[in-house]
Amino acid sequence: MLRIGLLGAGRIGQIHGRNIAAHPKAALAAVADAVPAASEALAAETGAATREIAAVLADPAIDAVVIATPTDTHAELIEAAVRGGKAVFCEKPVDLDAERIRACLAVVAEVGRPLMIGFNRRFDPSFAALKARLQTGEIGAVEIVTILSRDPAPPPASYIARSGGLFRDMMIHDLDMARFLLDEEPVEVFAQGSCLVDPAIGEAGDVDTATVALKTATGKLVQISNSRRASYGYDQRIEVHGAEGLLRAGNQRATTVEAASASGYSRDPALPFFLDRYREAYQAELSAFIETVSAGRSPAPSGEDGLKAQILADAATQSWRSGRPVSLDP
Ligand SMILES: NC(=O)c1ccc[n+]([C@@H]2O[C@H](COP(=O)([O-])OP(=O)(O)OC[C@H]3O[C@@H](n4cnc5c(N)ncnc54)[C@H](O)[C@@H]3O)[C@@H](O)[C@H]2O)c1
Repeated sequence: MLRIGLLGAGRIGQIHGRNIAAHPKAALAAVADAVPAASEALAAETGAATREIAAVLADPAIDAVVIATPTDTHAELIEAAVRGGKAVFCEKPVDLDAERIRACLAVVAEVGRPLMIGFNRRFDPSFAALKARLQTGEIGAVEIVTILSRDPAPPPASYIARSGGLFRDMMIHDLDMARFLLDEEPVEVFAQGSCLVDPAIGEAGDVDTATVALKTATGKLVQISNSRRASYGYDQRIEVHGAEGLLRAGNQRATTVEAASASGYSRDPALPFFLDRYREAYQAELSAFIETVSAGRSPAPSGEDGLKAQILADAATQSWRSGRPVSLDP
């Protein structure tokens, strides 16, 4: 039984807390949040204790921590947790600054404790099945990966100002997915962006609509399409074109009911947002963390995966700002 402490009981922390509490090989030992009401509510629901972060990290009976606090606390908490001997699952991103991530990963490597980063989309059953079928060689060599990822509605401009921008905040999931599906590192990044959804996002110095083209050393191409608006629900689709065929994973809907009439066919809209769309992925990623750490193996996606996605997001931001492609050291 892996005894886990949860740091942060906000939107995503509550999901992780419930998934830990429900897992047969884990126990939610403690919940810590800067706002006592947040930790107390989740603790009451799951039967966990409420503790201060320092007490969780100092408790030798706690084997691992899940970090779901705001991004600007992650690197420091990862370092403190591994120094306290804990295995760590940390929400993406590790930090908005690649140099800070490198420094954090150096501490993790020095201490030698496991670190997994929350790129949950790798664990979505459809995307994971698509990846598994790519690996069997079903469609031959991969040639073009297309990732469509659009949020239902933009966040408030106050969120944008602290987010690191669309490429680091939102597209980072798609950049990780591109690496996951390619099994090869992109060496060129070309990004374009516009503000078409909410002028306040442009005033905050960001874009709400963006495309990125990636190219690997062997010539494989990736197209990513992001928007902060999708009137038909949370739009999450992937298509991989290979030498001998195509694999595609589409949107999920609340039901499979389809209506037909003289005016055409209609189905439910795509599931509204990430908490619903990736419910199973969040369960599966925590389960992977619990299983691998309990078995003494290294979990994936790793801290290095977190750093590489961040480097791509930085390159995309640079490309958008300069209007030029950015080359990366393979
Ligand atoms: N993988 C995903 O799909 C996904 C989805 C949402 C958020 N996230 C990431 O998860 C992290 C949290 O996002 P969220 O949307 O849940 O935020 P949130 O604001 O809903 O929750 C954060 C919680 O942390 C608490 N907190 C703040 N500072 C703290 C501190 N120093 N110590 C302890 N608790 C503290 C807050 O009181 C709050 O309850 C972010 O890094 C975000 O990027 C990932």
